[in-house]
Amino acid sequence: MSLINELESLVGELEQNLARAVSLAELEELKTAFLGRKGRLAALMGKLKDLDAGARPAFGQKANEIKQLLTAFVEARLQDFKRKREKESLLTFDPTLPGRLPWQGSAHPVTLVMDEICGIFERLGYDTVSGPEVETDFHNFEALNFPPDHPARDMQDTLYVSDGIVLRTHTSPMQVRAMLARKKPPVAVIAPGKVYRRDSDLTHTPMFHQIEGLLVDKNISLADLRGTLTYMARSLFGQSVRVRFRPSFFPFTEPSAEVDISCIMCGGKGYIRSKSGREACRVCKTTGWLEILGSGMVDPNVFKAVGFDPECTGFAFGLGVERVAMLKYGIGDLRMFFDNDLKFLQQFA
Ligand code: PHE
Repeated sequence: MSLINELESLVGELEQNLARAVSLAELEELKTAFLGRKGRLAALMGKLKDLDAGARPAFGQKANEIKQLLTAFVEARLQDFKRKREKESLLTFDPTLPGRLPWQGSAHPVTLVMDEICGIFERLGYDTVSGPEVETDFHNFEALNFPPDHPARDMQDTLYVSDGIVLRTHTSPMQVRAMLARKKPPVAVIAPGKVYRRDSDLTHTPMFHQIEGLLVDKNISLADLRGTLTYMARSLFGQSVRVRFRPSFFPFTEPSAEVDISCIMCGGKGYIRSKSGREACRVCKTTGWLEILGSGMVDPNVFKAVGFDPECTGFAFGLGVERVAMLKYGIGDLRMFFDNDLKFLQQFA
């Protein structure tokens, strides 16, 4: 067989081998065997020097043609294999599957209730204000008509930071701060925030949240307080809710009242209808009422302490936020608010 024939026969031989190849690795092997530096084509080209000088150009040209052919065949097969592999990987990848959503935070139930209550009062024209959690004895007690050594200070288990400095035991110091800042009536503020007491059991945590409300103007009466709190309770819990005032005592209000709403679980009946007749309401413990806040008419001594005319009139109230959130969302255990359990918190998203 002439060298030219030998060159030409490489094409057919490679074609046959390529047709039999079943893997990318086999293809790569064939490529090296035919086209590599020590491959079949290279071996034939090595024989160029044995030819007559006159036959060399024709052989060289043929060898180049064959090289291009072989390369084209191998590349075509390689492309086939790559395309096939892509198709297979598309079959195992389902582009219709939903993607992973980015994790998103959401407002805490305590924040939700604070925002809702502040919103109710903002629409009534109140300003939302905030102040320090580390408070002076003056703002937390003295200006609120708790004289030094007054037994009423024992009502609240105070956490002291140092002499005369406390963690505020209620948001009522914000009454003092708001009046000092405004200098004269009218004052209409709502002040949400954290408060602290030396108290920790099933129904008390050392830190919890309150919302303070204060309205000072001419001719503010107990009727205004009652109307405002009824409006708030119905905005929060629905129009059928009833409100009840019980006489109480706070040094900074006179008269003072604790405010109850009709039980949102049993509708104030104290009992819930069940399969076996009627069942005691566990939320209000059959009383039909739920305490939600303390309130009263601002004591003249408080006006005196902040330099307001003691003839001023005003009402104030302080509401426990966790308590309202428990009622609103039907949460049975106060500690859930502070456990940071995502499964619990995500329900409010
Ligand atoms: N500060 C009182 C408390 O924490 C609540 C209150 C606020 C009562 C305003 C009257 C007026 O119990």
